[in-house]
Amino acid sequence: MNLGATVRINRLGVCVLAGIFVLIVIYLWPWKDLDVDGPHRVNLRRLLVASVQAAERGGRRVALVRSRPEINSESKGKTREGAESLVTDADYSSHCVMYYGIKGIFPYLKVISEEKDKEKECSQLSPLELDPKGNTGVEALDDEEVDASKITVWIDPLDATQEFTENLLDCVTTMVCVAYEGNPIIGVIHKPFSQEPKTTWAWVNKGKSPNLKSVKKTYGFQSDSKTFLVSRSHSGNVTKIIKEKFGQEYEIVRSGGAGFKILEVIAGNASAYIHVTDIKKWDVCAGDAIITAVNGRLMTLDGKDLDYSAESSEKNSRGILASMGDIPEYIAKLKDIL
Ligand SMILES: *[C@@H]1O[C@H](CO)[C@@H](O)[C@H](O)[C@H]1NC(C)=O
Ligand SMILES: *[C@@H]1O[C@H](CO)[C@@H](O)[C@H](O)[C@H]1NC(C)=O
Repeated sequence: MNLGATVRINRLGVCVLAGIFVLIVIYLWPWKDLDVDGPHRVNLRRLLVASVQAAERGGRRVALVRSRPEINSESKGKTREGAESLVTDADYSSHCVMYYGIKGIFPYLKVISEEKDKEKECSQLSPLELDPKGNTGVEALDDEEVDASKITVWIDPLDATQEFTENLLDCVTTMVCVAYEGNPIIGVIHKPFSQEPKTTWAWVNKGKSPNLKSVKKTYGFQSDSKTFLVSRSHSGNVTKIIKEKFGQEYEIVRSGGAGFKILEVIAGNASAYIHVTDIKKWDVCAGDAIITAVNGRLMTLDGKDLDYSAESSEKNSRGILASMGDIPEYIAKLKDIL
């Protein structure tokens, strides 16, 4: 009998058992469920309230910067088509309150913002309040908790920066979007320069802001208003494509701001929003959630849903189509253009 080998095996056995015991303790330890907003769970109603408040605070920063004599506009570079990508003091200031506002309450959430300023470069940060006064409809919603690791938050601190610098303020928005497993489920679009109601929000299958209650679904592009919305600054050859694919009778309206254009489509002011060049996901995620909540659709031009998970690319190169009408009919006409 080899005594040494037996002892070694027993030692190994003890180590394995101890290891298994430690793993079981870690797995069963109650810290996972300590708090509704603890490390592993997030309350989506609270996240919606925080998103609305973040968008509104960002909007106030944007309006404040616009009222100054100097907004310090500079280029971040050029798009593939050669259009300047602008950034101003307003983008940074709004990013500070929106990004750190949400991070302050939900530090463990993945939050992706168009701007990347560090916290120490931000001035006068104060925590968001989760008391939803003034956000009509939000207070009536029920709590729902989900696994926080499945959530990605997308922030656009200032959509339509180009138009903002030109004082075309109607299409300027601030946006927050919440995606669960890559699908957009909560969208908030705030218009800092519009008359009331300034904030449109929706939580898919749960609730929506009062201004969305009267939205109607339309069927078939033949019956629509025959207006397409396209980008003002990043349009590529979309005008040519629309004339070729849909005929001359369609009116093409160029306007800034993806958030603005999606709200126009939802309101029935245009048949569809079509975009053929690259677009960033923080530009469309909130609008995607809202149009989904009112039974419209936003898809790529090859008929796919966008993936808003944190692991996905922040850029979509497959084009965008948003409509309250029959999306497959549009897609069928457009599928060979990419
Ligand atoms: C649009 O432009 C792309 C590349 O710039 C080109 O491949 C495509 O054929 C154009 N489409 C139309 C309809 O002009
Ligand atoms: C849609 O058109 C109406 C009437 O022109 C206008 O009052 C409204 O502001 C437009 N946009 C939205 C999002 O409702």
